[in-house]
Amino acid sequence: MKKITTVVELRQLVTDWKLAGRRIAFVPTMGNLHQGHLSLVSKAKERADKVIVSIFVNPLQFDDNADLSAYPRTIETDIQQLISVECDAVFMPTAEIMYPEGMDGQTVITVPGMEDKLCGQARPGHFDGVATVVAKLFNMVQPDVAVFGEKDYQQLLLVKKMVADLNLPLEIIGLPTYREASGLAMSSRNQYLTEQQRKKASSIYRILNEVKAKLEKGDSDFGALEQNSIKELQQLGFVPDYVDIRQAGNLEPAKTSDKTLRILLAARIGKARLIDNIACNLD
Ligand code: PAJ
Repeated sequence: MKKITTVVELRQLVTDWKLAGRRIAFVPTMGNLHQGHLSLVSKAKERADKVIVSIFVNPLQFDDNADLSAYPRTIETDIQQLISVECDAVFMPTAEIMYPEGMDGQTVITVPGMEDKLCGQARPGHFDGVATVVAKLFNMVQPDVAVFGEKDYQQLLLVKKMVADLNLPLEIIGLPTYREASGLAMSSRNQYLTEQQRKKASSIYRILNEVKAKLEKGDSDFGALEQNSIKELQQLGFVPDYVDIRQAGNLEPAKTSDKTLRILLAARIGKARLIDNIACNLD
């Protein structure tokens, strides 16, 4: 596996592969890799000849400096894991390479309709930071296809909209959330949890599925379903940001006539802010 830190080296590698007719898949990450990330790399391998993974803890998408400095960095283990799934190249730029003018001088991409809802509302500036770094990485890697997780469902929709709106020449694939046996969605932030908090965190998936089951039985009082879930999370010791039933395609609040829904949840416990979501199709 090639280890690359500069844009010049990356462009050379990509040019060589493209001249040889290779199809390139890209998986952007912030490192501290787990099975969820690796499942994206394996899918990427099925869809292309070469897979490039980026590892960059993007300061532009953190609204909290303490969160940024605490974010787990495990580069040596990450590299070993990427070798084990036959990744072809890892791109590990520094903040100076990504933002040579500093973050204040950086052109920023805003995808409309995302900053004002769900995680966008809870984390001001977060999605501008995500859109901007992802667009920069796409331009550096120039992949044919990029793979993202449904775990970060709002992020996946944001990237799809940005790619469509800006006519970026690549395909975006979204993959299902990889979970622990308990149902807890794998996340780099799970390691902030104590053993007891981790047990409680498995309730998140259960609560999402309970809402889904009620919707499928015909319950259409979305507000009550959301409020009951919030109460249940509070009783377990969470500080919920939201439990919301939304239209799956654009994350606007769901109407009773909508059939393709997404149930999304974000809640804090101890040092961790956990997010999860599931699909709910009422056809
Ligand atoms: P990160 O949190 O490292 O996630 C990288 C990719 O892995 C994202 O597409 C995310 O949705 C996916 N992922 C995380 N946990 C997953 C799980 N349990 N199952 C399946 N996929 C999972 O998301 C980011 O980094 C950043 O915002 C990034 C896109 C790299 C931009 O900085």
